[in-house]
Amino acid sequence: MTQDHVKIFDTTLRDGEQAPGFSMGGAQKLRLAHAIAEMGADIIEAGFAAASPGDFDAVNTIAKEVEGATICSLSRCNDGDIHASGKAIAPAKSGRIHTFIATSPLHREYKLKMDKDQVIERAIKGITLALAYTDDVEFSAEDAIRTERDYLKQVVEAAIDAGATTINIPDTVGYTTPEEITDLFTFLTTEVAGAEKAVFSAHCHDDLGLAVANSLAAVRGGARQVECAMNGIGERAGNCALEEIAMALRTRKDFFGVDTQIDTKKIYMVSKLLASTTGNPVPRNKAIVGKNAFAHESGIHQHGVLANRETYEIMKPEDVGIEQDNLVLGKHSGRAALQNRAQKLGFSLSDNQLNSVFVDFKNLADKKREVFDADIEALILGEAISTGGPWNIDSLYVSAGSDADNSPEANITLSHEDGRVEKISQKAGGPVNAVLMGINKVTGHDLHLDSFKARSVTEGEDAMAEADVRVSSGYESYHGRGTSTDTILATARAYIDVINRIERRAARNHNQQPIAAQH
Ligand code: KIV
Ligand code: ZN
Repeated sequence: MTQDHVKIFDTTLRDGEQAPGFSMGGAQKLRLAHAIAEMGADIIEAGFAAASPGDFDAVNTIAKEVEGATICSLSRCNDGDIHASGKAIAPAKSGRIHTFIATSPLHREYKLKMDKDQVIERAIKGITLALAYTDDVEFSAEDAIRTERDYLKQVVEAAIDAGATTINIPDTVGYTTPEEITDLFTFLTTEVAGAEKAVFSAHCHDDLGLAVANSLAAVRGGARQVECAMNGIGERAGNCALEEIAMALRTRKDFFGVDTQIDTKKIYMVSKLLASTTGNPVPRNKAIVGKNAFAHESGIHQHGVLANRETYEIMKPEDVGIEQDNLVLGKHSGRAALQNRAQKLGFSLSDNQLNSVFVDFKNLADKKREVFDADIEALILGEAISTGGPWNIDSLYVSAGSDADNSPEANITLSHEDGRVEKISQKAGGPVNAVLMGINKVTGHDLHLDSFKARSVTEGEDAMAEADVRVSSGYESYHGRGTSTDTILATARAYIDVINRIERRAARNHNQQPIAAQH
């Protein structure tokens, strides 16, 4: 590693995923991990292996299948967590264990009920055990920002002495300011005995909207790893946004004098994939990846940009993978044209994925005269996050409208991969209600629809619709997504997507041993 390289430690699948409303299934995490590795993240924190059998499996599968990045698992400084992380990352070509303990007075007194020496002792024990699994061990002093400076120095020295090669200084509660964190990193990187043996890392939360500014300021103070998450997701207000730190370091290399290895042309694709997977759209005005990030609306700005883009643009949309030419494909376009378009949009499709998207594309092209980039993107994202069966919608016909004698009715035929074919006619107060009640009856699920959104992906009467549903079953909340040129069918597909997810998870859990048996 050179002194001007800042490592990107992506925690979308750990700190990001643990935030309410952002949970993902194992297959979804794997797909995202591939995309994040392809984008050039140095390290992917794939999860918290000890949290549940599902988390263990997700980290373990990513460690087996994802290449090009170091795969990391989080653990508290205790034996059970570290064994789980060690086993989960074992198949990775390059694996890291990240272990943490809180160091601030508040956390020591009220959470851990431990004194200063006990915390250091626990940290050393954790690092030593982690080193039995890998020589790449990261140590975090949780709530480091609110820790007494002299004591933090002592903790960090002990961690380096015990063999930690990365030292993370989290701003766990998003409390610090740029000046303060530059000063802290300058102090630690120059005053800690053995500092040259470790990479110092920043992990900033966005409670005061300062996560990116603080991470940049930490780099100014000597941090050479930044922990961040795509679209800025994470606990509470989120983490430092990966797309923002990567583009800030690249665009202002003249000022910071450092860069990352992120292939910025992949940023937009990963951002979209994450938004579709979790059902949390990116706000229009979000820096770098929002719909308006490169839109020039006012006449004065448009005039300037037409004369010279640099009047109002410090980055080009192409730099983050936003394609501008929006070529139109139609029903005569072939597989090669589709693959070519997908690549321009930042997606590399395997042959199987291309085949599946091509079938959807042909069906869509039959219904729509022109297929735009946004349509293709929606088809690819649909393919990427769909769970497959067991249930499939064979046909759906709905009558709707206001008539005193007839209420809306849905006629649905569903098939299951075990060979069952089920038909139902269901009346209800509204067409969506009729469809969802019918699906519940056929599949035997008693789900509650918390919210649903349908939007058109492109313009025009024949535009494709994308539906997102949020559904709860007991204490669990699920997100599903479906697309179609028919809004009701898109909603039904999104609902079936959730049911498939629940049934697949139940089947997996049924075949799984309890986590204690795995260690
Ligand atoms: O915010 C935090 O302190 C964390 C640690 C576990 C690194 O997420
Ligand atoms: Zn955090």
